[in-house]
Amino acid sequence: MTAVTERWIHAPSPTALPPTLSVICGRDKSLTHRAVMFASLASGFSRIHFPLLGEDCLSTMACFRALGVRIQELRPTTIAVVSEGFKAWRQPNVDLDCGNSGTTARLISGILAGQPGLRCRLIGDESLSQRPMKRVVEPLRRMGAKIEGRDGGNFLPLEIEGVALKACSHQVDKSSAQVKSALLLAGLFAPGVTTVSLPAGSRDHTERFLERMGAKLERSYQDDLETVRVEGPFEPLAGEFYIPVDPSSAAFFAVYGLLRSGGAIQIPHVLDNPTRLGFLRILERMSPALDTTSEADRRFVEPVMRIQARGGSVLRAADIVAREVPTLVDEIPILAVAAAFAEGRSRFSGLEELRIKESDRLAKTAELLRLAGAGVSVDGDDLIIEGGLKKVRAFTYDSLGDHRLAMAAAILARFGEKPSCILNSECVRVSFPDFYEVLDSVS
Ligand code: S3P
Repeated sequence: MTAVTERWIHAPSPTALPPTLSVICGRDKSLTHRAVMFASLASGFSRIHFPLLGEDCLSTMACFRALGVRIQELRPTTIAVVSEGFKAWRQPNVDLDCGNSGTTARLISGILAGQPGLRCRLIGDESLSQRPMKRVVEPLRRMGAKIEGRDGGNFLPLEIEGVALKACSHQVDKSSAQVKSALLLAGLFAPGVTTVSLPAGSRDHTERFLERMGAKLERSYQDDLETVRVEGPFEPLAGEFYIPVDPSSAAFFAVYGLLRSGGAIQIPHVLDNPTRLGFLRILERMSPALDTTSEADRRFVEPVMRIQARGGSVLRAADIVAREVPTLVDEIPILAVAAAFAEGRSRFSGLEELRIKESDRLAKTAELLRLAGAGVSVDGDDLIIEGGLKKVRAFTYDSLGDHRLAMAAAILARFGEKPSCILNSECVRVSFPDFYEVLDSVS
């Protein structure tokens, strides 16, 4: 068993806050996963600039290395991916270890299901081994995929025997980018049109990558439903991929900036994609002290912007409705921290997907706020936060290895008079390896 890591978080020592402080946050996890996947599928030499080298993305890289793709560091900020294309992938002689990463396990399932001649076994850590895989396994089976696993294929380990897939039409009942992406990726190997219809709002990076590479992809929207069609077969192209800063990482420092007593925090090069920025819309409802400015840098795989959050103003409570959740699904813990300090009661509705993230994030977010002395309750899958927190009680909080909870707890602890302790604190390596160093650098 691995030892439990712990970290004490203190309030910063009182100093005059600099008028504006630029904070360098980690690069985007979802985009790094996809850049590695598309570069590995392509035949040729690709470079990924500013990849996130967090544990989740390293798991994705390790899986493709096991399939024979060469992935090397060229410079500390650039990796090279050299592949002869998916048709040249070799049979791995090890299990493909997805670690803690749901994105790796679910997207790779879609890719491997369509590789005749390969037989792969996907494994993961304790948390990932308890997360449902049926949401991708069942629709993939309708395309002819041969996937076996624990509990009828609902849990890792999964055995995937690659076959020639058939294109088909899927109706998905969850707004999940992981499910949508797994099916679109599988569709690349199935001759004909694969259609995925699902509740709108989930991140659209897979679609954007495919559009950029010239795949025949169509999207349409009707009421709250989105439909994506992709035509297979399609071979992705090697290229240069510049990765922006992860809005899900920036969110911690945007909230920190708003909660401070003064000064401003600026975060440059943040991915500017509406399917990822629901948290900004909520913070804008809570405070007038948040600004964004588009940046003209066109190198990145998607547009980028600068976020600025000024401290010293009073936050107002804000509700989140179920339809908004897909656009801020990873930011609920840090938005809940903001709501704890706001004036009035906030209700975050329709959070059932949080129950099956790296932990039961809904219950664990409520636990964190309760430990710190905030008024909070859970009503079904809704989180109700009373607001008005003035004094953060010192706490000891077990993140259970869930990175987003550890980081939300650390931001909250910075406003306590006495230090607080985070157990299983080092899980931040999954998505933001130098999070604590960055936090220490900000007073
Ligand atoms: C992700 C999609 C989201 C998100 C996860 C990354 C992706 O999951 O929570 O951190 O990169 O596609 P769901 O699509 O399951 O909601």
